[in-house]
Amino acid sequence: MRIGILSRAPDAYSTKRLIEAGQARGHTVELINYLHCYMNINSKDSALFYQGKQLPAYDAIIPRIGASNTFYGCSVLRQFETTNIYSINSSIAITRSRDKLRALQLLARKGIGLPITVFAHGGRELKDLIRMVGGAPLVIKLLEGTQGIGVVLAETKKAAESVIEAFYGLKVNFLIQEYIKESNGADIRCFVVGNKVVAAMKRQAPVGEFRSNIHRGGHGVPVKITKQERETAIASAKVMGLHLAGVDLLRSSRGPLVMEVNSSPGLEGIENTTKKDIADLIIRYIEQNKCCTRSSRKFEG
Ligand SMILES: Nc1ncnc2c1ncn2[C@@H]1O[C@H](COP(=O)(O)OP(=O)(O)OP(=O)(O)O)[C@@H](O)[C@H]1O
Ligand SMILES: [Mg+2]
Repeated sequence: MRIGILSRAPDAYSTKRLIEAGQARGHTVELINYLHCYMNINSKDSALFYQGKQLPAYDAIIPRIGASNTFYGCSVLRQFETTNIYSINSSIAITRSRDKLRALQLLARKGIGLPITVFAHGGRELKDLIRMVGGAPLVIKLLEGTQGIGVVLAETKKAAESVIEAFYGLKVNFLIQEYIKESNGADIRCFVVGNKVVAAMKRQAPVGEFRSNIHRGGHGVPVKITKQERETAIASAKVMGLHLAGVDLLRSSRGPLVMEVNSSPGLEGIENTTKKDIADLIIRYIEQNKCCTRSSRKFEG
């Protein structure tokens, strides 16, 4: 196969591992910086160009689109899709999961467990918003945040009110969420390929921190997940329409609660923690699925 990886990061662990795994299975793997692609959209011969040349008809695409480039990256991916090129994750599924609020609404609609989350335009009903998430302590999350930045734990009602008022004053979009105390500063990353959880790890925050992000000093340990956690992760990826996903769960007293479904889950933490060859599993999944999906998959614009 000729596989194209859409990525801006040639030196990233995940990119290198996918190239290595593809080549080890006898494929040609090319890296495409999607921000350098440009497209000709017309009804006869839509095409995608890169470094002055038209891109070839790849057998499969692996999109690794950064959060800050979702719009352009998904436009490039959509251009591949108009010519029926298979992508492990479609542009529509990536767009769905990148909008955190939309993603939570879709998961809620399918009955998937979530922390109670409220969203409002302005703090007119501030007391009601705080009451709905069970009062303080509560979590406030900027919609644009990543790596734990923009996630705040307000321990008291007073602190919650001031932070919420400040954020409304700044005109930023944010969620107010129930604090899951019993998760004890840990979350569970379930790595989904196709309809299987192929690996899972627990990320534990350092002492005195509630955010388990590796960038905030958290560390990963292998974990055995329950049947319910497995089913929740698989169902969440399915709701998003993602064939490759990192589903982040909190362990709560009422079962697993989904925080986020990531469409470009990193390989470094999960491979090092679990010692599994996830890159190889991704390539094998593509080998098995690209031929059957290509002709039957409808272009979703
Ligand atoms: N409602 C909550 N209750 C308890 N802990 C939470 C809650 N929400 C988030 N956390 C902790 O904070 C961490 C960061 O939150 P979250 O994953 O929502 O934001 P982020 O990591 O900044 O965003 P992204 O995952 O998109 O990069 C989580 O991994 C978890 O450890
Ligand atoms: Mg996170």
